[in-house]
Parts: sequence; C-alpha cells; structure tokens
Amino acid sequence: MSSMFHISDELLEKYAIIGPRYTSYPTAPMWHDIDRETHRAWLKANSNNEQAVSLYIHIPFCRDRCLYCGCNVTITRQQSASADYVPYLLSEIDALAESRHGNKTVKQLHFGGGTPNFLLDEEFQSIMAQLRERFDFADDTEIGIEIDPCSTRPQQIEFLAELGINRLSLGVQDLDEKVQNAVQRVQSAEITLEHLKTARKKGIKGINFDLIYGLPFQTVESFSKTVDRIIDMKPDRLAVYNFGYLPERMIHQRKIKPETLPSPKAKMTILLDSINRFCNAGYNYIGMDHFALPEDELSIAQENRTLHRNFMGYTPKSGVDLLGIGVTSISEFNGHFIQNAHKLKNYKQQISESNLSGSRGIELSDDDRMRKWTILKLICHFYLDFKEFYESFGVSFPDYFKAEIKQLDELIDDGLLIRDAASIRVIDHGKILVRNICMVFDAYLNREDKPRVKFSQTI
Ligand SMILES: C[S@@+](CC[C@H](N)C(=O)[O-])C[C@H]1O[C@@H](n2cnc3c(N)ncnc32)[C@H](O)[C@@H]1O
Ligand code: SF4
Repeated sequence: MSSMFHISDELLEKYAIIGPRYTSYPTAPMWHDIDRETHRAWLKANSNNEQAVSLYIHIPFCRDRCLYCGCNVTITRQQSASADYVPYLLSEIDALAESRHGNKTVKQLHFGGGTPNFLLDEEFQSIMAQLRERFDFADDTEIGIEIDPCSTRPQQIEFLAELGINRLSLGVQDLDEKVQNAVQRVQSAEITLEHLKTARKKGIKGINFDLIYGLPFQTVESFSKTVDRIIDMKPDRLAVYNFGYLPERMIHQRKIKPETLPSPKAKMTILLDSINRFCNAGYNYIGMDHFALPEDELSIAQENRTLHRNFMGYTPKSGVDLLGIGVTSISEFNGHFIQNAHKLKNYKQQISESNLSGSRGIELSDDDRMRKWTILKLICHFYLDFKEFYESFGVSFPDYFKAEIKQLDELIDDGLLIRDAASIRVIDHGKILVRNICMVFDAYLNREDKPRVKFSQTI
C-alpha cells in the first residue's frame, strides 16, 4: 500500500494540541446567553432574507446509552417521549416559518440526534406534513437522517425513503467484537450492510458511515480490519472521528478505563493508516475526518469550491440560512448564531411560553466575519485567495492579517502550507493539521475575557 499521508513524530508532538473543530466561528463556547426577545429581534432583522434555508431537526432520544457517546441525549425506553416532544417541534416550525417573509425554499433538511429513528412512522409523517405546508420544498431538496442501525428495521428505512428521505448516515464506530463489547454497542457488520443495501435499493444517495478511532482495545491491526471491511461495503461517505473521552464531564464514560485505550502514538498510527487505506481505495480526503467517493456531491462541491461547513459537518449546500428546530439545535443566519435550550425540560417550557427557545448566541462583528470566511476557506478548500477576500470585504488580506501571516511562517517551514503574493494553499500533511492552521486566525483563543475551554485534540 502506498503511503500518501505521513507525519514525523516531531511534528506530531508539536501539533497534537487541543483545539476547536470549527463547525462555527466564533466557536460555541464563545457565545453568550441571550433571551427570547433577542432571538425574536434577530429573526425579525432577517425576515426578508432572499437566501434559501437549510433546516436541522434534533431528536434527542436513544433507547440505550453507548459508553463512548459524547452527544447530548435523553435515554429512554418510553415511546411516549417522542409523542410528547413532536408537538413542540410543530409549534417551533410554525413560529420560524411565520417569522420569515422572504425565501422559504428548503435546500436541505437534516434529522440529527440522538437517534432520529426513535420516532414512529406517524410522527415523521406529521413533521414532514407541517414542514411541507409551511416551507417550500423543491424536487432536489436534500433530506437526510442519522440512523442507529441497531434500532431500525429495513421497513423503517423503506418508509422514510417513501416519505422523501434521500440521504442517510449510519453509526458504525468499529466492527471489532471486543471493542464493541467494551463500549456496549454491539452491532454486526451484516446489519450495517443490510441497511446500506436497503437504502441504496430505495434510491438513497450520499450514504455515510461514522467510525471512531481511539476506542478501548483498538489496535492498528484491529482497526485496519474494520477499515478494509468498510471499504468492501463502499459507502459514499465516511466520517472517522477522534474519540472524545471526557470522563470528568461524562459519568457514563468512566466505565471506559483509560488503560484500555490505545496510546497516543498508536492512535496516530491508526488515523494515518486509515487515511491512507481509504485514499488508496479511491476515497477523497475531504478534510477534518471526512472522506467521500469522487462521484459523491461532497467531492464535487470541494472540486468546485462550493463546499461549506456547519454544525452538521461538511455540506455541499452553501449560501443558505440554517434554522435549527428542537432541543440544543443551532441556527445560523445573516451574521448570527443562536442555540436552543440544552435541557429538554427548559426547551419545552420555552416553546410553550413563546414558541422560541434561543438561549445562547452571538451577533458577528466585522472582524468575526472576516475570520470566519478565512477559516471556512481553509477548512473546506485548503486554499484561500486574497483577491476574493478583497472582493468580499473591501479589505486587503495581507494588510489585515499581517500578524497572522507572520505566524504562518513557522507552519510554512514545517511543510504544512505554501503562501505566495496572492494566496495560501494547505499542502500534504497540513491537510490533517488544518485545525492548527485555522487556530492562527482565531481571535478568541487565549483571550483573558473568554472562558478557557477544553477542546478536543487536534489530531
Ligand atoms: C448522534 S450520533 C449518531 C446517530 C446514532 N445515534 C448512532 O449512534 O448511530 C453521531 C455520531 O457521533 C459520533 N460520536 C458520538 N460520541 C462520540 C465521541 N465521544 N467521540 C467521537 N465521536 C463520537 C459517533 O460516530 C456517532 O455515530
Ligand atoms: S452513539 Fe448514537 S445511539 Fe449511542 S448513545 Fe450516542 S446518540 Fe445514542
């Protein structure tokens, strides 16, 4: 196997620091508390926007807790939990549609979780009916869902496809039995493959598998077997996440003993080996843990420089307003980020009182917008053009970012990127270390007046 990505131990040690994943800039911990009047005012200021929308609906429920999980979930076996939750979603959909007088075309809709397939068929039907009544759906609206393969059935996937779902993401994590037992997520390769085939048969595209490296008992050899079996299954897209292990914050993760985790060196070898295996098998390395087949929309969008990144990760849909619906969900429009209440109880109470649940957020300054643009270009395209920056902001990139450009010299010497009079281009292993490059442009890191946040390891 030829090796495309290799990083020396010296560089690994230097750049394996903790840093944000930049699904937003400014990153969520830098936002502040907001009240619902502010939420309403920001929506109002955006009410005539002509940009199409991307909708995100959060379903927080899971029947069982996987020990590694770092998501904000509500564990319950009570099916009534979703019956109780859906009316709040319907009210919020109404309020958001009501607040918008401009373009209501939906370019993208995504159900995330938790486990969205916790919902019953009739609950999906009522949400979709409400959305189709209050927003405008196009024939090519991308409608995606995250599915836990263990708790779905082929009939549910068929039903969802008939309802209009045309993108799917399956959580896989690792196919090794010992690893699966250690994280209490036992899922056969056969069941994953069966769901993939059902989805394909129903015309669903852009099928993604989530994997995690760094889980207990993983070894370079065991994970390479998982990777090779996944390559045989050939999903369209892959996310290979670094295990976020925060036992001090997440009590359930304490059942995972640190001595069972692969060493930092082994983890790094697992990551680099996986990247090389997927690339050798024909996948493109999109960046920040993501891969896609060349014919997949993500690869095409990256090639055309239209790829975008938001809370759902990489997306081919750029230039849209993101409206978040449900507990903890995030909206992003016209220079604002807003996050709904974190706790289900608070979300429900706020929606009953005012149909909105914005609890934290930020209004971007001009400086924030310029840095956000820069970070997005680097993380989505590994390239940025100074002329394009000038055309967007009427400001010279080299003048505005004089100090940051100086800081890049060290990264240039380390072979992470190249800079000329007109552009910056991330090269070779700089692609794996792109978070470190973005951090140079992050004005909030190390600011005395901002919280010290425990971000994850950059690699
Ligand atoms: C909301 S979950 C996926 C949907 C579904 N509930 C499932 O488990 O298949 C999204 C993904 O986040 C990833 N994830 C969850 N906890 C993680 C952690 N602590 N570190 C890294 N990735 C994690 C997993 O890969 C998971 O598939
Ligand atoms: S990994 Fe998925 S199914 Fe498991 S607890 Fe997290 S959200 Fe729920």
